[in-house]
Formats: sequence, structure tokens, C-alpha cells
Amino acid sequence: PAAKPRYTIGFSQCTNGDAWRQAMLAGMKKELSFYPEVDFHMKDAKYSSTLQQEQIKEFLEEGIDLLIVSANEAEPVTPIIEEVYNRGIPVVILDRRTTSKLYTAYVGGNNEEVGHTAGNYVANLLKQKGRVVEVLGAPGSSPAVDRHLGFEQALAAYPGIQKVAQINSNWERPSVLERLPAVLRAQPNVDLIFAHNDRLALGAYQVCKQLGMQRRVKIVGVDGLPGSRGGIQLVQDGILTATLLYSPGGEEAIRTAMRILSKQPYDKENILSTMVIDSTNVLTMKMQTEKLASQQQDIQRQQQLLLQQRATYASQQTVLYVLAAA
Ligand code: FRU
Repeated sequence: PAAKPRYTIGFSQCTNGDAWRQAMLAGMKKELSFYPEVDFHMKDAKYSSTLQQEQIKEFLEEGIDLLIVSANEAEPVTPIIEEVYNRGIPVVILDRRTTSKLYTAYVGGNNEEVGHTAGNYVANLLKQKGRVVEVLGAPGSSPAVDRHLGFEQALAAYPGIQKVAQINSNWERPSVLERLPAVLRAQPNVDLIFAHNDRLALGAYQVCKQLGMQRRVKIVGVDGLPGSRGGIQLVQDGILTATLLYSPGGEEAIRTAMRILSKQPYDKENILSTMVIDSTNVLTMKMQTEKLASQQQDIQRQQQLLLQQRATYASQQTVLYVLAAA
């Protein structure tokens, strides 16, 4: 049979420094194990849009057949991504969008819906009356912009819910530890904090605890990762009242990339769904994600075994060949 064509995929990641991005990469690698004909290269922009621009330029110089990209900030990274697209190289946008329509496919959540779902949940939780603080993700990154938009739109339907303050962050916990205390000192009657991810939500909890408010203030996050420090565990431990599921989508991104590369039909918009995880369903979620993790380990073990058997078979073939030649 003809050898499969070799492909090079470049992955420009805005940061690889947190568990959510690492789960994304693990998902990609798992899916890539089915495509040994693919060379996969990741460049980590470490939260710098300038570095990300340079790294995408490097990909262009090195030569790639497809670009997967999570844009650190939408505006500054858009022109170079458009250039890739205009050179005829397919572009898969993963999770963080650009400001342009020039891309081949999008894979990720609908962040406006995430914010909207959070807003309705929060309003019902507070029985349509209460004071809310919002902790946003990094300014200019599309999930922060869209989650904020959706949250505001949902709350607009509940006149009894007051947004008393909002703060920006850089998506990481230290920025909340730094900025939230002053806000909560000025607004001691806050009922609930909605944070744009679970790391920020955990930071908000720590601030509330420092101020002795953790029993009264409810906290809602986003991501819902499995694992010991993940959002599912934080909900189970009662640290968060709820989290909105936001899947990293690594597997789906590779699947879409492979469809594009092998000229199979694909969808331009591949939206991963969200849901509220709270005390009513957290145990089910936990059991399901644990089961999935153990099944994935089984698959990896089977792959290892297959590789070993192939190696053994190859060496036996050599022995047979040597014996026949003797
Ligand atoms: C991970 C992360 C997630 C968040 C997503 C938004 O780097 O900060 O926590 O949901 O990025 O792009």
C-alpha cells in the first residue's frame, strides 16, 4: 500500500502553564497517537502576544501544513493568523478566537453561552435578589470578553440582581489575591462572586476566607476539570458552589485538523457544550470522569503492548531470516 502522506501541524499555544492547557495537550497527544504520519510541534507563547506573533512567523518559515492556535489576545495576534490563512495554510482556532473571519475551523466552547448560563444560574441561586461581583479573565482575550457579555445579558433580565463591582485579572490566581480584598472591603454585603475560571474562583475563595466571609459568599467558576485541584473537586469540597463545564477540546481539534488535511468534510464551527456542575450532579460527574481516565489508561497500556509485540515480531523475523540464510 502507498505510504500515507506526512503532515506537519504547528500548534501555537497562548500558555502551557496550567492544568487546563495541559489537559488540552494530553487530549491532542492521545488523538495524535492514531496518526503516526503527523509531525506535531507546539510553541508556548507564555501569555505574550508578541512572542506568539514571532512563534507563528517561525512556523511559517519552518513550514507547516496546518496551524492550530489559541490566541493570547484577539487583536494583536489576528494579522499574523490571517497571513497564515491567506497563504493557503488551513487554520484551526482552538478556544481563544481572533477578531477575523479568516480561519478554516473553530473548536471550543461558546463563551457567551457560558456567561449566559452562569448568569441565569446565579440569579436563580440567589432567588433573584442579591449583590454580585464578577472576576474577569484577561482583557482582550476572547473568552473573557464573551463570558462577560453573556453574564451581563443574562443578569439584565433580573432587576433584583445588582452587579456591585468587577475586576480584571490575567487568568491566574495571584491577580485575584492582589485585587479582590479592596473590593470586598468596600462591598462587605456581597452574596456571590462569579469568576471566569476555577483558578480565579479558588483565589476568590482564599480572599473570602482571609476576610472571614467564606461561609456567606457563594463562588461560581468556569472549567470543571477533573483531578485533585480541578473544579469538580472544588465543588465536591464545597469551596465552589458551582462551576461551568468548559472542555479543553484537544482531541476534537486534532480530529478536525485531520479531516481538513485529508480533504474530508468538516464543520467550520465545532462548539463544545457547557453545563452547570453543582452539588446536585457533582458525584455523577466525578464518577464519569474517573471512569474515563481509567479507560484512557487501559488504551495506553494496550498501545504499549502492541508496540512491544511489534518489536518482538520484528526481531523474530530477523532471526528467521538469519536462520534461512545460514
Ligand atoms: C486556561 C484558561 C482556562 C480558561 C481558558 C480561556 O489557560 O485560562 O482556565 O477557561 O483559558 O481561554
